[in-house]
Amino acid sequence: MSLPKSDLSKQADNRTALQLGAVLPRTAEVRGGHLVIGGVDMVELAHEQGTALYVFDEADVRARMAEYRDALREAYPHSDVLYASKAFLNKEILRIARDEGLCLDVSGGGELACALAVDFPPERIFVHGNNKTERELREAIGAGVGRIVLDSRLELQRVSRIAGELGRTQKVLMRVTPGVEADTHEYIKTGCEDSKFGFTMLEDFAFRCVGDVLAAPNVELTGFHCHIGSQIFALHSFAEAVQVMVGFCARVRDHYGLQAADLDMGGGLGIAYGADDEPSAIGDFARRLAQAVKGGCEAEGLPLPRLLVEPGRSLVANAGVTLYTVGILKTLPGIRKYVAVDGGMSDNIRTALYHADYEAVIANKADKPRTEIVTLCGKHCESGDAVVLDGSLQPAELGDIVCVFGTGAYCYTMASTYNGQPRPAIVFVRDGQARVVTRRETYNDLMSRDV
Ligand SMILES: Cc1ncc(COP(=O)(O)O)c(C=O)c1O
Repeated sequence: MSLPKSDLSKQADNRTALQLGAVLPRTAEVRGGHLVIGGVDMVELAHEQGTALYVFDEADVRARMAEYRDALREAYPHSDVLYASKAFLNKEILRIARDEGLCLDVSGGGELACALAVDFPPERIFVHGNNKTERELREAIGAGVGRIVLDSRLELQRVSRIAGELGRTQKVLMRVTPGVEADTHEYIKTGCEDSKFGFTMLEDFAFRCVGDVLAAPNVELTGFHCHIGSQIFALHSFAEAVQVMVGFCARVRDHYGLQAADLDMGGGLGIAYGADDEPSAIGDFARRLAQAVKGGCEAEGLPLPRLLVEPGRSLVANAGVTLYTVGILKTLPGIRKYVAVDGGMSDNIRTALYHADYEAVIANKADKPRTEIVTLCGKHCESGDAVVLDGSLQPAELGDIVCVFGTGAYCYTMASTYNGQPRPAIVFVRDGQARVVTRRETYNDLMSRDV
């Protein structure tokens, strides 16, 4: 794996930290040249807690959860928001989601175990996954989860059998792939026809399988789910998916006599990774979706189902940042300038994986313009190990604290211990207080499972 060639003609943007638009956590400010989030000085925090360090703006996370919940309820009263815990998972974020009245999307037994450990009401938990194991299904059904989102006909047989063995009737949704091409990266596109997820609509397979689900003992089909992909900016993609899903529900009603009680449109709303990105507002997304469902159901003469959405990234990504310390500087004439930090692909794999864009600043020079173009590389034994490719940054010196924005989603949950790197601590900041909610991994933790 290597880095893409540097664009040597690229000009630094000369922005200061507070000119980075929607990538910033909502409480970000600059005091005395230092970046401050949640009233806490990021430079002091980095010195106290060490780096690399994940930091979350708690007020920001809570505000986004409330915004989703309230905007959707206002536009469509019979609705629920599920937090997609794959985006960022630890006990504290689950407690916050629980207390903000959200439901939860878990994929797999580990996410379910975390949810149950913080007494997340099981009836508010939806269980996803394209290959849920026997054990995971048994644990989920045994715990009394609200819905299992069926992903295949084989899984239907397993759920039906296990529910019978446990003496339960399990409510289920069917995940279908609506064949909508969302405008996003290939790797995070899931709703188009070639997908490992869900029941395909090709050759009417999903429609025919509805009959199997209805005939299966110990399961109750309450509706349908789709997820067309992630980091989607174009709201029309969601409206198109609604059209397909509502059409499907209408055919199901006409043929099978089942009126879907739940319509789950998945997650996928995009966020700002770049300073010039202008993602849709949560409220606009909620209103557009609500309008599409109401319009579609009215046209088909369908009663309004409960509308569900499953945001992950758009709840947590911009509330989270990663702090690093600059350890090495290298300039390769005519190639690029490297600023090496004490983390990298172990705490953020997204850049190495699909050249994700991030904005960074030097937290102790936050009021200074970003006058250089650099590659912020990590410390790992891979040439492709970078956090920011060709990004604007203030001139870096050894010991500077770098803050990378927009790292609240799919960084910690995809973190590894590559090169024996202990995973960073996670700190929540709010009203001038910082609290460690996940402690830093230790060398002993790295060896703790070895026998
Ligand atoms: C089924 C499902 N729901 C919700 C999400 C969350 O998506 P996002 O973080 O883009 O909102 C995902 C992400 O992959 C998903 O697979």
